[in-house]
Amino acid sequence: MKTPIDQLLAEHRIIEKALRALAGLCDRLERGEQVDPDAFDRIFEFLMTFADRRHHQKEEKCLFPALGAQGVPRDRGPIGVILQEHCTGRALIAQMRRAVSAHANDQFIEAARAYVDLLSEHIQKEDNVLFRVAQTLLDERSMRSLQDDFNQAEAELPGSLAKYEQEAQEMERAWAV
Ligand SMILES: [Fe+2]
Repeated sequence: MKTPIDQLLAEHRIIEKALRALAGLCDRLERGEQVDPDAFDRIFEFLMTFADRRHHQKEEKCLFPALGAQGVPRDRGPIGVILQEHCTGRALIAQMRRAVSAHANDQFIEAARAYVDLLSEHIQKEDNVLFRVAQTLLDERSMRSLQDDFNQAEAELPGSLAKYEQEAQEMERAWAV
């Protein structure tokens, strides 16, 4: 049976495509290639609306409270670390956007590489630790209620999983080297 955790895992695979696209943009800039200025807006839009707003918010507003109800603390342990990393990720997106506005390629590359490293490790941690804890702790009823929370959260957001997956795929195809 598919669980809401499977949905988060599938979203991680989509985010990883966007991370490979972002790393590709850095590679191209380092080689001295011209990058279409629209590419930056496109990847920022994806990271802000899909990775952060859609995915991280579902974790923060739905999954973590469900785990909290099973006694997993929010302010320390694995959830504490993950929340801190979500904050660092948001700060790095802001840093990348500032660098692009200032036409500062080196600063963009520095922030973008840090973001790719952070999110890649973060996803591994969630896949291998937190989501396994969730699969053990949440019974069928809690999973059903978590799925309802996900559906409700998504109904309030624009776009669809299929649309974001296609977008990530196109960006990866265009920029990853
Ligand atoms: Fe995640």
